Amino acid sequence: MSTGTETTAAAEGLRGVVAAQSAIGDVNGEQGILIYQGYDIHDLAENSTFEEVIFLLWNGRLPKADELTALKAEISANYAAPAEVIALMRQYPKDADPMDVLRTAVSSLDFYDKDGHGTDREHAMKAAIKLTAQIGTISAAWDRLRNGKEPVAPDHSLNIAENFLYMLRGERADADESHMFDVCLILHADHELNASTFTTRVVAGTLAGMYGAVTAGIAALAGPLHGGANTNVMKMLIEIGSVEAVDAWVDKALEEKRKIMGIGHAVYKTEDPRATWLRKYSKHMAEKKGVSKWYEMSQRIEQLMHEKKGMFPNVDFYSASTYYLMDIPLDLYTPIFAVSRISGWTGHILEQYGHNKLIRPRAEYIGARDQKYLAISER
Ligand code: COA
Repeated sequence: MSTGTETTAAAEGLRGVVAAQSAIGDVNGEQGILIYQGYDIHDLAENSTFEEVIFLLWNGRLPKADELTALKAEISANYAAPAEVIALMRQYPKDADPMDVLRTAVSSLDFYDKDGHGTDREHAMKAAIKLTAQIGTISAAWDRLRNGKEPVAPDHSLNIAENFLYMLRGERADADESHMFDVCLILHADHELNASTFTTRVVAGTLAGMYGAVTAGIAALAGPLHGGANTNVMKMLIEIGSVEAVDAWVDKALEEKRKIMGIGHAVYKTEDPRATWLRKYSKHMAEKKGVSKWYEMSQRIEQLMHEKKGMFPNVDFYSASTYYLMDIPLDLYTPIFAVSRISGWTGHILEQYGHNKLIRPRAEYIGARDQKYLAISER
């Protein structure tokens, strides 16, 4: 008898299953190509800015000069998170994980945005702008608060990348780091139906609001198999400790069937094009800071995993050592992923609202049938 389902164990984890039509981004896993709205990620990383990419993801085309100026002005005018949200954050336990903080604080933003409710494009766009502007503010403010410092007020003259580093450190980053960080945000902006983006579309598909959909996306991003991998890469490098110790560590991990964080990908079967840029940045930071160990260890792990398993580094692998040498706390790497991915999430939510169909797949039932209820005394 047909169960009416098409999914079988062969599609476990929905690998290869097309679950939505989207014009936002595409991943060619065989050739290692990533495009946003038709533009190659290398072209965007080389020539564009994060704000331009946000416009592209939301509107399907690159902005003209006045459109970009207007978007930047709208985003920067919304940098400050509501005082109530920051006040609530003061009550959070100081040892709370920054991703848990981000998830909770972003959820509470909903209370203070009466203007951003509604799934029509006009209202949803207002919420998208606020979320894009404030995710960085919340992440940076949390790092200050947990360290007993006052949050740094955003500087409206700075772009998202510059402003985030400024609010985190209390001083402006140099032009080199600001540009590199801006490119990091471009690289993480969208990745088709990754787990967190799919989550946001499922929630948006019920016509729930944008804040709820993004809150769910943050929850999905936090997991170590998704965005949480970048923090775990750095923990792994610190645990290994030296280039000399890499070979034995990797052998043991593989023997124990442990996964090496930052390696492998559900879609890419070749080099992740984002890793090409982040490898370059990890090397650049190593040279700039005169600390080559983390880059060299990463290179050796990459080489071993390619030789032994035919696997490649993903976006999280070299971002870890890059951020580490930018003096960013380990557990902020995943919130930074969210500071960027908010652009893709909101783009996908806008797209979902625009052509909505409730997302409701089937499960292949593998449980028992024809059971007869037994009274509790007879079991
Ligand atoms: N280190 C060691 N072995 C790995 C591995 C890794 N990072 N990633 C996958 N493998 C192995 C699995 O152990 C499995 O081996 P087996 O067939 O002998 O059991 C095989 O490769 C397939 O793994 P699976 O997890 O089913 O593949 P996937 O395509 O679903 O995995 C990831 C994709 C990303 C979940 C996986 O590669 C992973 O967990 N990587 C580490 C976490 C990470 O970096 N995540 C960020 C992704 S951007």
